[in-house]
Amino acid sequence: MTRRACIRGVGHYLPERVVENAEFEASLATSDAWIRERSGIERRHVAAEGQTTSDLAIRAGQAALGDAGLGPDDIDAVIVATSTADLTFPSAATMVQAGLGMTRGFAYDVQAVCAGFVFALANADALIRAGLAGRVLVIGAETFSRLMDWTDRGTCVLFGDGAGAVILEAAEGAGTPADRGILAVDLHSDGRHRDLLYVDGGVSTGQVGHLRMQGREVFRHAVEKLAATAHAALGKAGLDEGAVDWVVPHQANLRIIQATAARLQVPMERVVVTVQDHGNTSAASIPLALSVAHGQGRIRPGQVVVLEAIGGGLAWGAVVLRW
Ligand code: UT7
Repeated sequence: MTRRACIRGVGHYLPERVVENAEFEASLATSDAWIRERSGIERRHVAAEGQTTSDLAIRAGQAALGDAGLGPDDIDAVIVATSTADLTFPSAATMVQAGLGMTRGFAYDVQAVCAGFVFALANADALIRAGLAGRVLVIGAETFSRLMDWTDRGTCVLFGDGAGAVILEAAEGAGTPADRGILAVDLHSDGRHRDLLYVDGGVSTGQVGHLRMQGREVFRHAVEKLAATAHAALGKAGLDEGAVDWVVPHQANLRIIQATAARLQVPMERVVVTVQDHGNTSAASIPLALSVAHGQGRIRPGQVVVLEAIGGGLAWGAVVLRW
């Protein structure tokens, strides 16, 4: 028998305010047409003044608990994937723990930028397999609007705010690819590429800073590395591309999503795309997309789902799971 981490619940939360592409035309040399054509983004949600990453994460966590039919004290651990925690410390995860009314268990953040949710799921899977936790709430939550340089048209039109959450639960499997739950994980980072996508602030500067990106270079790395990591994770799971029911990619750019799917030879009908409505929400993008697709009844029990993401670091990876 093999201990597996299975999806028990999923949920999300998006801030109320929606910013359409056309709103940027008043202040920047950009257009709705350019943003749509180059990124696939049409709109994004933006957090209200005073609304923090942990606020969004708590709402997403509550939605996932509701979906699972569980209460806060049924959870052993909370992991929040974020690069925009409310404060330098404590972790956003401890704020979520308190906000959910959890009086037991443990909580911590994982910071792997846009790949954060994949890294956090890998962490939760390892906790469950090691017997350190039976149920883990994994949340991707971000307020990237707070990192934007609103005069930089090459970045500020691309990002949005939001949160998504899943609950993983221990279950016994046979140790074969037919098991439900996380079947394989593939993780990478390469700090030599740290200057391609970073925030020019932090504790060393005394200021929060702004996101800086060499978009074309990140794009080039993304297509190549995402297809490779998804392929590697499928191999570790004992599956091939033909077994894939759904790819749920990091939602940064529709052209990256399409090019990666083409390399994997997975048709776009089997790819979940939400970038048009959410923009790039960094670590929140995959759990948001998962929750939207689940809510639409698209992802069904027994189906094989591949998650893949890349972001600052560079850090990238993939998870293969059976729903
Ligand atoms: O989540 C982490 C991972 N991040 C990503 O995956 C993002 C990866 N990169 C991308 O998505 C794309 O590279 C972008 C959407 C950022 C840019 O698309 P691109 O097709 O690579 O455009 P580009 O950067 O090569 O820029 C083409 C032109 C430039 O003008 P010149 O130099 O050709 O005159 C830019 O200045 O488009 C210009 N441009 C814009 N024009 C109108 C850049 N941003 C804008 C804009 N509106 N918002």
